[in-house]
Amino acid sequence: MIYTLVSGATGVLGGCFCRALAARGENLFITGRSADKLICLQRQLTAEYPAINVLFHPCDLSDDGQVEALFKAAENLVFGAVYNVAGADVQKPFEEYTADKIRFQIRGTFEGAALLTFFALSHRAEKLQIVNVSSVCAQRAMPYFALYAASKAALDRLSYALSYELSEKNCSVTCVLPGSIKTRADVREYIQSLGRFARKSAKSPEWVVEKTLKAAARGKRRVILGAHNKFLNFALKFAPRGIQMKFISRRWRKTRKDAF
Ligand SMILES: NC(=O)c1ccc[n+]([C@@H]2O[C@H](COP(=O)([O-])OP(=O)(O)OC[C@H]3O[C@@H](n4cnc5c(N)ncnc54)[C@H](OP(=O)(O)O)[C@@H]3O)[C@@H](O)[C@H]2O)c1
Repeated sequence: MIYTLVSGATGVLGGCFCRALAARGENLFITGRSADKLICLQRQLTAEYPAINVLFHPCDLSDDGQVEALFKAAENLVFGAVYNVAGADVQKPFEEYTADKIRFQIRGTFEGAALLTFFALSHRAEKLQIVNVSSVCAQRAMPYFALYAASKAALDRLSYALSYELSEKNCSVTCVLPGSIKTRADVREYIQSLGRFARKSAKSPEWVVEKTLKAAARGKRRVILGAHNKFLNFALKFAPRGIQMKFISRRWRKTRKDAF
């Protein structure tokens, strides 16, 4: 039996990926930090899609012991795909972090994805599809959102390099860079506080999942999701770096976000 591994399954976007993959008949191995949420999701998925098998294992990807335990729990499984959806979008001035929070954010957002990809590669079926959820924040340094942007940039770079390194080994790597997604309540509230243009460009998790699955099926290496985000990325390329940084600083210094 071949499984699809999904991290961040307990989150809004991750849950949405799980439902879409289950609807395609894929057997799932789902992970996230909360065992209760995983049990609940497993019950929902198996009730709705009785033909598939759904296994789960709770794991904080920033904890070495828990990652080892996850590898042990999944050591006899074979994977046809891995979706690295887990990520911690903590946003605040760097000086307001603690050392633990720094480790948590980097590990949950980048190191966890690297480790799960490595694990899936060593337990892969004939073909392996690797799908990484980065962010438009990966495209440039972001004062006041620095660690998140840097972690997502690392994931973006890793994905792009692996998409070539693994291309002759029956493995595809797709990295998507979404802009705002209407997921958690605090994220939706934040989106509402933005200007009209930014509000309109925010996407539903279902939209992001659909575009991601299409991009992965077409073997795309790297996709910025949404016309608004593509345009903004193009336009910002013409602005001098200092101006970009001042613009980002002014916008992000006013807000704080820490749901973890
Ligand atoms: N929402 C947006 O506007 C947006 C935009 C671009 C990219 N993204 C990315 O999309 C992904 C999903 O975000 P979302 O909006 O759906 O947020 P979410 O509901 O908070 O989901 C985040 C998921 O990541 C998991 N996670 C975080 N740190 C972890 C760790 N150390 N170990 C294990 N799991 C960890 C969370 O687990 P718990 O449930 O246990 O906390 C949760 O399942 C993230 O990678 C995010 O960066 C989001």
